[in-house]
Amino acid sequence: MTIQLEEYFDRDTFSRIRACADQKETPFLVVDLNTISRAYDDLVEGFPYANVYYAVKANPANEVLSLLKNKGSNFDIASIYELEKVLALGVRPEQISYGNTIKKSKDIRAFYEKGVRLFATDSEADLRNIAKAAPGSKVYVRILTEGSTTADWPLSRKFGCQSDMAMDLLVLARELGLVPYGVSFHVGSQQRDIGAWDGAIAKVKVIFERLKEEDGIVLKMINMGGGFPANYLTKTNTLQTYAEEITRFLQEDFGDDLPEIILEPGRSLIANAGVLVSEVVLVSRKSHTALERWIFTDVGKFSGLVETMDEAIKFPIWTEKRGELEEAVIAGPTCDSADIMYEDYKYGLPLNLAIGDRMYWLSTGAYTTSYSSIEFNGFPPLEAFYV
Ligand SMILES: Cc1ncc(COP(=O)(O)O)c(C=O)c1O
Repeated sequence: MTIQLEEYFDRDTFSRIRACADQKETPFLVVDLNTISRAYDDLVEGFPYANVYYAVKANPANEVLSLLKNKGSNFDIASIYELEKVLALGVRPEQISYGNTIKKSKDIRAFYEKGVRLFATDSEADLRNIAKAAPGSKVYVRILTEGSTTADWPLSRKFGCQSDMAMDLLVLARELGLVPYGVSFHVGSQQRDIGAWDGAIAKVKVIFERLKEEDGIVLKMINMGGGFPANYLTKTNTLQTYAEEITRFLQEDFGDDLPEIILEPGRSLIANAGVLVSEVVLVSRKSHTALERWIFTDVGKFSGLVETMDEAIKFPIWTEKRGELEEAVIAGPTCDSADIMYEDYKYGLPLNLAIGDRMYWLSTGAYTTSYSSIEFNGFPPLEAFYV
């Protein structure tokens, strides 16, 4: 398949990225901040009633954090290290949610001491830790959701608990002196089935009603997580369609009197803004008669492309070469046989693609720099430039 650049970038934006890229030695990532700014505006336009908490893990660069802070975003934080980063940029503790359900007691205390009062949980042990280390804070319980088969990067199973346990935890939260504040879910990253939100919101509705009727607890907030789409090879609906449908699901269950709604986008805000530029290191075949070409490039699973694990995320790859395409296995530069990006998925690349040619991996702004290893096989971490 030939990648049509205009499906991913307007001409000006790509020229801006090229102007930066053409000066540099590969591999590196270029991120266009204007694209992020526009994605943020689109999200707010689609969900005007929601509070955005950017999932910092998607791309924790100061340039990105500052841009989003200035646009009024709040922040979903996964660790004490992310916390220190955003506080150093002047983000206020009221703008922060500690969204990781797996955390040390001493880290909960550190968040509390810095002024953070909003915590996610999905287990009794963690809830008891929060009650001790962050007394009186607001807690929300993450529930398990369906949708792992339609998300390109599923997140359920490891996080969340069944609804009945969520209700017990919220009741226990009150007993422990915490504020049982709401319910969260994440339908899986790059979720292609919008219906996944419908099922999750319906579960939340049951929890809201039961807790009110049976325990007199009035929950105030739904955290709908991330899962909104980026523009990869596999097509999705537009963000606008996601917003319209999800809003309809919310209204069907909660009417016009919506609780506070939180969104935690990562991928959908950042991915489309990035282009990872690599160079072909070697083109080879494994026998004289092999139909399959191997294309080795100077970026791989260990230098930012972790999400090609199980070939989950299919990044569009653009090259300047034109002409006949031939299927290729695409692999990285390290001495590890796991460092193959696409083998089952038959990627068509120009037959005349040669050593030294550049490969432009589109939609790579999210979950690349932060995943890159620091010294595997001696290769340095993925460099990034923000334009
Ligand atoms: C708690 C939480 N919120 C939000 C996100 C961001 O999700 P996405 O990148 O799909 O928008 C993640 C991703 O791992 C997450 O773990």
